[in-house]
Amino acid sequence: METQNKINLSAEASRILNKNWRKSFTVPSSSLYPFQWLWDSGFNAMGWANINMDNARAEIKTLLSAQWKNGLLPHITFHDDSADKMYFPGAEFHGAYHSPNSPEHVKTTGMTQPPVLGFVLEYLYEKETDKAAHLEFYKSSFLAIYAFHKYLYTDRDPNNEGLVYIRHNWESGSDNSAVWDEVWSTYEPPSYDVERKDTTHVDQSQRPTKRDYDYYLNLIDISKQCNYDESKMLDDLPFVIQDPMFNGILAASNKSLIKLADIFGFPSEKSQCVDWNIKTTGGLNEKLYDETQGLYRYYDLKNERYISMPTGMGFVPIMAGVPTRVQAQQMADKIMGEDFTGSNLDGYLCPSLSVTSPSFEHNRYWRGPVWLQVNWILERGFREYGFSEVADRIKKDSLALVIKDGFYEYFNPIKNSEGNGGYGGNDFSWTAAVILDFIN
Ligand code: GLC
Repeated sequence: METQNKINLSAEASRILNKNWRKSFTVPSSSLYPFQWLWDSGFNAMGWANINMDNARAEIKTLLSAQWKNGLLPHITFHDDSADKMYFPGAEFHGAYHSPNSPEHVKTTGMTQPPVLGFVLEYLYEKETDKAAHLEFYKSSFLAIYAFHKYLYTDRDPNNEGLVYIRHNWESGSDNSAVWDEVWSTYEPPSYDVERKDTTHVDQSQRPTKRDYDYYLNLIDISKQCNYDESKMLDDLPFVIQDPMFNGILAASNKSLIKLADIFGFPSEKSQCVDWNIKTTGGLNEKLYDETQGLYRYYDLKNERYISMPTGMGFVPIMAGVPTRVQAQQMADKIMGEDFTGSNLDGYLCPSLSVTSPSFEHNRYWRGPVWLQVNWILERGFREYGFSEVADRIKKDSLALVIKDGFYEYFNPIKNSEGNGGYGGNDFSWTAAVILDFIN
């Protein structure tokens, strides 16, 4: 890439992270998401590690300070009481603060998000120049993240398969993925008469529908009635899914914890992580790999059935070294083929849903658009396996989209389409963070 382009992108990305910085954490976007989100925070910390290590550490410290007593790391931490005015559903609707496990000093949601923090901590540690001076931070963060994984394996894997479940679609990070349609088709939620805030900031056509929201709110309602008790929720919630992106990210984080445990001197934690990872790798390959598709699929534990949907998130386990060589080759062929790059093979990687799927929508959130934080994961994964052509393409497409459209939340994967292909929030933090990594 030309030096001038690089400088401009880097300056712009830094400006965005600084704009979205709030004393000790980064908001994903100043208008749309005014609090701290778990996996955003992880990516944002990696972005900061390229320009300001103090902010990178502070981001993680703030996030971990909201950990629940049972180890859960919440998907949103509502850092101030304006939550209910600025965002819906806020702390009141979630009602998670009634749970005896919730933290006392701050309100949070009672659900989690993809467990990126293990590999985030390793990334920060590698970039740290004075490792000795910050050893305490790294060791205590390690133990908090380890406790989070322990919670996931203890409370979220009822059949002991090494595959943890998610109990709300928001836990997947891919909020309105077409995969969830299969679950929604099994029951009817009540209709909620509420005032959404997201559609006042972003065009309706780029966001989940009103009916989708009824499902999302209903799951929160049921969780609240269970007072966020895990075993009650497992009985009562209609949404209990083994998700390949969530488990692939968990495996990648396990691997990082294994490396860090060696450095920090935590032998028993290390052997526990090794055991977890053998199981998760096996579970992903034996249960979730879909040979006919060339990527990983989903399993619905409530309705005891597979959901095979060609999502971009189904490639994520490649980051953790999970697929065999043969599977990885099938995945490389799949992602470079028509389903993901379109009939001229020239689309932008990687769409969140195959462009040939009947449910594909080029602009609606997780039903088609490209997300750069997922691209970051895929780029690493394919590179690690030696598929440099795929990795280079993902990186090149990510940079091209930002240069063409701006630092948006998500992007149109179709080449030469009309209008700006950047959608959702602009000046988006994790888009900036990923670009900082890619150009450094
Ligand atoms: C949306 C995304 C989710 C993200 C959040 C904040 O809910 O689907 O993945 O964490 O916004 O950016």
